[in-house]
Parts: sequence; structure tokens; C-alpha cells
Amino acid sequence: MKKLLSLCLVSMIGFSALFGMAGPNPNARNNPDGTITIFAVDKDASVKPKQTVDKFKDVTTINGKAIKKRNPITFDLSAYADHEVYVEFSCDIKVVTKDNSPVDLMWMINELSGGTLPTLCQKKVESGVWTTMKGEMDISLGANKNLYLSGAGIDNAQTTFYLKNIEIKLSGESLSKPTQAAQTWMEADSIKAAYDGLIPHIGIACGWRGELQDFDIQDGLARHVNSITTGNEFKPDFIFNWASHSQMSPDLFVAENGKAIEVPMGMPNFGNMKGIINAVTDMKIQMRGHVLVWHSQTPKWFFREGYNDNGALVDPETMTARQEWYIKSVLEEVANLEKRFNKGKRLVYAWDVVNEAVSDGASKNAWLRTDSDWYRVYGDETFILNAFRFANKYAPADVELVYNDYGTYSPAKRDAICNLVDEIKATPGARIDAVGMQSHVSIDYPTIDNYEKTVQAFLSHGVDVQVTELDIANGQKKYNSGKLKKAYKDYFAMYLRNRKTEGKNGISGVTIWGIQDDGTWLNNQPEHKGNKQYPLLFNKDYTCKPAFYGVLEAAEEYKQQQ
Ligand code: GLA
Repeated sequence: MKKLLSLCLVSMIGFSALFGMAGPNPNARNNPDGTITIFAVDKDASVKPKQTVDKFKDVTTINGKAIKKRNPITFDLSAYADHEVYVEFSCDIKVVTKDNSPVDLMWMINELSGGTLPTLCQKKVESGVWTTMKGEMDISLGANKNLYLSGAGIDNAQTTFYLKNIEIKLSGESLSKPTQAAQTWMEADSIKAAYDGLIPHIGIACGWRGELQDFDIQDGLARHVNSITTGNEFKPDFIFNWASHSQMSPDLFVAENGKAIEVPMGMPNFGNMKGIINAVTDMKIQMRGHVLVWHSQTPKWFFREGYNDNGALVDPETMTARQEWYIKSVLEEVANLEKRFNKGKRLVYAWDVVNEAVSDGASKNAWLRTDSDWYRVYGDETFILNAFRFANKYAPADVELVYNDYGTYSPAKRDAICNLVDEIKATPGARIDAVGMQSHVSIDYPTIDNYEKTVQAFLSHGVDVQVTELDIANGQKKYNSGKLKKAYKDYFAMYLRNRKTEGKNGISGVTIWGIQDDGTWLNNQPEHKGNKQYPLLFNKDYTCKPAFYGVLEAAEEYKQQQ
């Protein structure tokens, strides 16, 4: 390692002398979206482009004997000094050593300011064998930076290098001026058309006031999605319209457990449910119902004696009757509105029956969230099992019933949810069709691989997966549009790999949590204070971000592979 370090230090000094002046890189082109692509290595006497090697055209050969510098292959990045850059690198390489010994190759960037030598990718390769190398990283570029090949035990003079399919993509704010005028969401290709026949439900979450109420926004949503979720309006506090409910209905509600309970006087117009169902009908799309049972955004009085904020918690039997009454009332109202506006045809095709009931630090014996009035009343999972029984009893059979949660990729939480799915399935009269993965992810967490494992764990328990609240935060990092695009593309490619097909469980829907960056909930979260988040597909003027094209490209590439 020491040897390697000094090798790189020497090479940096050498490069500064060679490439001391920043100028445009002749091997780079500016892309219409403001990103940069470097497509060829820095030229010197050792480099011969456009050779035919092993029947491949357009191979660059690097003759070791003619190399004058320390590192055999370099790409000059000095033109991009003082930028925070996200680098995506890939190439196919073949190295032929004189004695046929393998070599340990490393692609690095000589960024020494932080005392580190960032390695984009590293691989031990056999002599004479073509190998693909790929890597990506965020880096803050100083002057005189190069991306270069290095490695342990390479004797340049005794080695020939061959490179093909070189692609280095740099993205970052103000790297170059985008030449393409941004398309608005009404001009761009439709996401739902791209995913037609692949993923049944493609959705975006929105609000009623300021969004769904606006006819232009209805048009944009209807162009791109076939499903919406209202962020708040189908939650208990909105359905109850924040009323205090001191007034009781003259009729008692008789629950299936025989208990007759007093119930609050109606649910004042069910909030904005009527307007929403009417709008969704006009848009000729569908929606997810979110959410029936949740510890949050449910009035305190609902759990307390006399429907009074200050009352004691009611007993489980009373709470079960109240839960049945609530679920029945909401589902019946939806059915009424579907009848009234849509000739009885289905508009709300899925319900998040229970949201976030499993603890983040789940263990085998303590896996339920305890900071919840639902939990406080029961002390166990009875309220979850009952919720799936009541939803099954009062919802039409084709409405999908979903358990929804966040952070599902932590192994303990994932396992607890898998057990819960089994338990719901084993409960007489209950039904569960899917696990909802909220998916408030960030660029760095979780890995796609870990997320995919979680998807497959849920599928193996005989349910579908619905991605219910996807947004991709830049988190602690500064926003980088190219990086977000790649993340969206990778997520959607993974969703397509695991999509629902005839007779097989899979991902049956993907909903993105919000339309445009200015409306994201993330910027109201204390952990993001001072670091603005840009997690969605559209800018605040409803122009398409690179991330939008990432979603489209994932579908195009998937179709090409089929
Ligand atoms: C959770 C809930 C959503 C919403 C988000 C924050 O994920 O399920 O309904 O409240 O938090 O916007």
C-alpha cells in the first residue's frame, strides 16, 4: 500500500507538470442535459485509437514501451476543477503482460486533499482476458485532476493495454450549460405509457388543495400515471375533518362482537373524499386508499372514553367495535361515491389497511411499535389482525389489502413483517394481498441489492409488493441531478426485474411520493435543515428533471432485453 501511495504521489507530481493548465478536454463532449461524457483516453505517443483487436472495432491500444508517464492510461479532468462531480465510469479492458502474470488494476482519481486516494473500481485480471470494469463516486475536484489506471505490479514497459467501450459520465451543477430546453410534463413522453403492460399501477401522490383541485395538474397526472394516492385526505384526521365529536349519533352501532356502541355523529362529509373521487373519475384513472389504521394522524379522542381527548383509553372490546365502525363507514362511503360518480366501477383499487405498526428495532418477542394508542389499548397485534378482517369483510373482493411500512429493508423489521403476513394469512376471515414498501430512500441507503432482497422476502410469503411512497433524498449530500437520474433508473430497473406477472407474485405498483420538488415533505424534516432535498421527477415549474428520463430509460432498456 505504501508503495502504491508513493507511486500515486509521484504520478500526481508528474501529471501536474504535464497537464498543469486547465483547458477543455478534446476527448469530452457536453451533453444536451448539462452532463459531460469523456469518450477517449488522453492522447500521447503510446496511444493508438480505432484499432481492430480480437475482431472488435474501435479499440484503443496503449503500447507500454512508449509510455512516458507513471500511470499508463489517464483521462484529464482538470477542466472540471472546483466542481462537485458525480463520476460514472465504465470500460472493457484487456492487459497483456510479458510473462502472462495477472495484474491488479485500479481506476483512481488523484484527489489527495482529503488524504485519500479514491478508487472507482478495482479488479484482479488475467493477462489476455477482456474484463469489464465499472465504478462511480462523488468527488470534489481540485485542479490538475486525472482519472487514471494504476495497479500493483504493473510494469508499463512490459505490458500492452487494450480498451473499448470507454464511457465516463460527469454530472454536477453548472458543469456545462444544458443545450436542451427542458420539456414540461405535458410535452414529455408518458411514464404510464412506457410501463403499460409491465407494471399495472404507476402512481404519484398529491394533495387536494393546490394540486388535484387544479385542472392543469389533473391533466399532467392523467398523462403520466394511472393511480394517485392522496397524501393526507384519506387519513383518519382528514376523514373526521378534525371535528371533536362531542355529538353522538342517535343510533348505536352494533359490532360483530355483539357490542353496541355510541358512535360520533357522521364524519363531516368525509373531508374531501367526494371531490377527490369525482376528480379521479374525470381523470379516468384509479387511486390507492391511504390509510385506515395508523398510530399517527388519528385523533386522540378516537381511542378514549366519551370520545374525549382527556378520557381514559377504552377497553379492547370497545376499541374493536370502533375500529369496525370506522373501517365499515369509510369503505361504504367509497362504494357509494364509486356508484355515484363511476357507475359502481372500481376507483379505489387498494387500501393501506395498517400503516407502520412494526417497530424499527423489532426483535422476536418485541416487534410491535409501542408509541401508539392502538398498541396501548391492546398490548399486542390483535388490532392489526382485526383490521385485515374488517377490511376483508367490508371491501369488495377485488380491492387489494396492504400492510404498509417504512425502513422495511432492515433485516429485523423485514422478518417481523414476514411473520405478520403469515399471521394475517392464518387468521380466519382476514385477507392480505400485498406489503407496501413506503420507500423513502436516499441516494446512499439502502443498497438496491438489499432493497431487492427485501422485495423477494415479502414475495416469498405469498403476497405482492407495492412501492407506495417512493422518493429519493440526496440526504447529507448536495443534490446531483445525474446521480438522482441513475438512482431512479436503477430502482425502476429493479422493480421491472421483480414485476408481477401472470400467476406469480411480484411488484404490482409503484407510486412516487409527490409531484414536484417544491412540494416534497422532506424539506420540512429537521434532519434536512440547511441541505435542500430534490427527491422527485419534476421541477417546481413542472419541467422534467433528468430523473424523469431515468424512469423512462429503465422501461426502454427492459423492453429491449425482452
Ligand atoms: C409516512 C406516511 C405518509 C406520509 C409520509 C410523510 O410515510 O405513510 O402518509 O405522512 O410519512 O409525508
